[in-house]
Amino acid sequence: MKTRYLVTSALPYANGPLHLGHIAGAYLPADIFVRFKRLCGEEVLFICGTDEHGVPVTIRAEQEGKTPQQVVDFYHAQMKSSFEHLGIGFDNFSRTSLPVHHAMSQAFFLRLLEIGAVHPKTEEQYHCTRCSRFLPDRYIHGECPYCHDLRARGDQCEACGKWLDPKQIVGPRCALCGSTPVITGTRHWFLRLGLFQEKLRNWLDSKTQWKDNVKEFCAGWFREGLGDRAITRDIDWGIKVPLPDTDGKVLYVWFDAPIGYISSTVEWSLKQGKPDLWKDYWQNPETRLIHFIGKDNIVFHAMVWPAVLMGQENYVLPSEIPANEFLTIEGDKLSTSRNWAIWVDEYLAEFPPDPLRYCLAANAPENKDSDFSWKEFQNRNNSELADILGNFVNRTLSFLQKYQDNKAPGIHSPDEADRQALGMIEEVTRKAGEAFAGFEVRRGVRELMELPRCGNKYFADKQPWATRKTDPMQCETTLAVCLKMITALAVLMEPVLPFAAADLKRQLAQDDLFAGILWEDIPKLAIPPGKPLGSPGILFRKIEDSTIQAQLDKLHAMKK
Ligand code: 2FM
Ligand code: ZN
Repeated sequence: MKTRYLVTSALPYANGPLHLGHIAGAYLPADIFVRFKRLCGEEVLFICGTDEHGVPVTIRAEQEGKTPQQVVDFYHAQMKSSFEHLGIGFDNFSRTSLPVHHAMSQAFFLRLLEIGAVHPKTEEQYHCTRCSRFLPDRYIHGECPYCHDLRARGDQCEACGKWLDPKQIVGPRCALCGSTPVITGTRHWFLRLGLFQEKLRNWLDSKTQWKDNVKEFCAGWFREGLGDRAITRDIDWGIKVPLPDTDGKVLYVWFDAPIGYISSTVEWSLKQGKPDLWKDYWQNPETRLIHFIGKDNIVFHAMVWPAVLMGQENYVLPSEIPANEFLTIEGDKLSTSRNWAIWVDEYLAEFPPDPLRYCLAANAPENKDSDFSWKEFQNRNNSELADILGNFVNRTLSFLQKYQDNKAPGIHSPDEADRQALGMIEEVTRKAGEAFAGFEVRRGVRELMELPRCGNKYFADKQPWATRKTDPMQCETTLAVCLKMITALAVLMEPVLPFAAADLKRQLAQDDLFAGILWEDIPKLAIPPGKPLGSPGILFRKIEDSTIQAQLDKLHAMKK
């Protein structure tokens, strides 16, 4: 029976361009998983959208001298295009500014209020006298009380990942003018996380297979005890608190953002002309809900969001939260404020998408931070994609074109080496499949590359250029085995290298063979002998040293 997967990637703030850290953390691993599961015949819905509220957006608008609306309109369009060009194939890429999202977030808030899980109280908050405004979240800068990093922001410390309250910040300063804020009282609504403590703990205890980073993070929160957290804010950009006389307060962006996963699914249902279809996912206990995130989002997805869902009626809870660690750039922490980042739109203006997908997947920050360097990118492209995978495909298909009338050859009396090479297809299909199913993208890539690696060795050992004259039957067998490996690769590559996989399928020109193919059937794929093939081409172009040097120079020149 098919499993129904609802896969989400963290909704990126529409407050700046996408960088490689985003892609490596929450988007590429999700896309690979989704493509793989679809190839397994499972039913998968892949949901995302832009997170358009909150202080991250208003601060950006203030910095750029624009309105928040202008900022989110611009970045929503830019991100949508970057994702599409990178092959991150969401079924729906929504926006939290849509009315459907506002209505759903307000309904969630009211439901929590009704069951007593949200209550109002007066809280002391920072206020900047010079700017005449309250300073929630990132409007406060200062020192982290836990790890003492000096760049902590009022909502969270990026260095240690702790979720903070602005009043915990040591030496607080107004992010806008730098002056020291004063404390003043204001009324807010609080989520009573403590009410869910036992239920959350039991639920999390049942997730024995989850990654250590998620389990350890949650264990730390339980040790400290779950208290009340304010879920409203004094800013004028966001979803209005649906109650009278609130002085224009809005919902906290981290309250409404995850609800965006649901409202994006609702928007998708409406586009399908089936307004209730979203319920088959969100309110169906059989759904496997999987949230791909970066590690800075763990607390919100593993504690606060499940509590919010527990407070509603009939919603599924996350089955898996694959949280990735961070990507560093050239050995240094990625920082958008210091402009130490590689921006996706700039990458795509100069390079094709697959080498980046490959490089980030092969070196994914799964269990610890990993580094992106331009030199490694070049090596992986040139020595792995071009020299191993591309070369194996091209030498085989070119040989067939030149000496075999560009037709699929047949296998005649295979020897031990031929059988071993054929056995590799089955082994790689199984091992790469296990890795992709278990969110182990790095291992999946390694396993996958074993096939062209062995293929090249087999080709070299068998010397078809010599047997063509001395033993044509053996030559044909060698090429038929290589072609079978390549035919398998056209499907095996698809989750990580979708553009090259499509190109390879075009070169093989066997549309009927590939239609509806399932992962488990990959080892059986065979082009019937005598069938004409398409025209061979170059799958991956090599990247020159000078091109890489230019990227390094640009990165260093832009650093602030
Ligand atoms: O960290 C971020 O970029 C947040 N916008 C992620 C939100 S994830 C979800 F809750 F929407
Ligand atoms: Zn100020």
